[in-house]
Amino acid sequence: MHVLRWRWWLALVVALTLVLAVWRSPAPQPHVRTVVRPVRRLQDVRGYLARRAAAPSHALDLARLETWEDVPQMWPDVSDRHTLRMLARFACWAYYETVPAHPPDAPGWAWSSKFGWDEGGLRGQVFATPNNATVVVALKGTSASFLPGGSTGQRDKDNDNLLFSCCCARVDSSWKPMCDCWHDPRTCDSRCMGRTLIERSLYYPAATDLYNNISYLYPNSQVWVTGHSLGGVMASYLGATFGVPAVAFESPGDRLAATRLHLPIPPPSTPDDDAYALVPVTHVYHTADALATGQCVGHNSICSRTGFAMETRCHLGQSVVYDTVRYLGWSVGVLPHRITVLISDLLAHDWEPRIRAARLEPPPLPTGRAVPAPQRETLCQDCAAWTFT
Ligand SMILES: *[C@@H]1O[C@H](CO)[C@@H](O)[C@H](O)[C@H]1NC(C)=O
Ligand SMILES: *[C@@H]1O[C@H](CO)[C@@H](O)[C@H](O)[C@H]1NC(C)=O
Repeated sequence: MHVLRWRWWLALVVALTLVLAVWRSPAPQPHVRTVVRPVRRLQDVRGYLARRAAAPSHALDLARLETWEDVPQMWPDVSDRHTLRMLARFACWAYYETVPAHPPDAPGWAWSSKFGWDEGGLRGQVFATPNNATVVVALKGTSASFLPGGSTGQRDKDNDNLLFSCCCARVDSSWKPMCDCWHDPRTCDSRCMGRTLIERSLYYPAATDLYNNISYLYPNSQVWVTGHSLGGVMASYLGATFGVPAVAFESPGDRLAATRLHLPIPPPSTPDDDAYALVPVTHVYHTADALATGQCVGHNSICSRTGFAMETRCHLGQSVVYDTVRYLGWSVGVLPHRITVLISDLLAHDWEPRIRAARLEPPPLPTGRAVPAPQRETLCQDCAAWTFT
């Protein structure tokens, strides 16, 4: 009897200690949902980049010779609206040089460091959870008059037009072409385009250099990369190269430039699988954004007055596409490209309840999803009006 009572008291003390420990546990849990999935990545990425820098014109052959491995990684759960919204906010903060130490709407996350603000070109911000367990590298996108941030505008625009037009952004005789790889109005020399992009598009080598430096600062962290517009494309290309999960917001079609730059694309498991869909990036965009959907084609296009020739529309990885034109009746333009449209409008509401309330068009499959289902852009085709030699 006496022994029993003693055990009972001990159990009570242990239970109370546990309750107190849980009750007093510090630091709210980061408000993100994650999933564990494998990433197919280069076994020796630093070696590959060194070989590529030494012989840029052999990038295509180099990538073919590399060894790949499947490594489990913790990805952001892109079916969770709050997780996407937090990443979109980080991508937005990348446009600003000074950001709050504890960004609002990101409980458990803190600003960690910034990069690139002293030089022209690539720049952004790094956010982290306690002990740097998870780190988000947010890259700044294009600076344009209708977007916040910085003085890198014209160079960014030239770079965008070189990367995301079908052939040198030769829209018509009034535009200054970015290169001279076309033969006649609709024939383009693919090898010339590849050479030009590798020689002149310095953002990709700058981004890999930068990521290399950042990954030395956070050696034991799970890294995610994110960005808006051109920043999202660079996040996507870093995801492809380093095998880290990336989320890109409102980015132009990055598939064609990825092939022209001869990015290291993971080999598919079966010959008829889409290798470009294996890149660990999720694109998030909506259909009223003329830049993300490649509707900046021709001198009459909705974007031509702003000097953008974003003609490509096919993306790497998987895409979460909000069809705002069809379900919400939005009109296509340049202004819907802004990341604030995503943050304060689209990602502020659950998607299917919203489109059902809008009643323009019944949703294809009423499942109550908060975020549209991701899809691959395997059947997408870029620049069909051009002949490539
Ligand atoms: C997180 O990483 C940064 C950059 O390396 C470092 O300055 C900081 O001390 C780290 N924080 C913790 C808690 O390890
Ligand atoms: C990366 O680090 C090296 C060596 O410290 C430095 O020379 C280079 O400028 C850095 N690159 C970037 C993009 O920060």
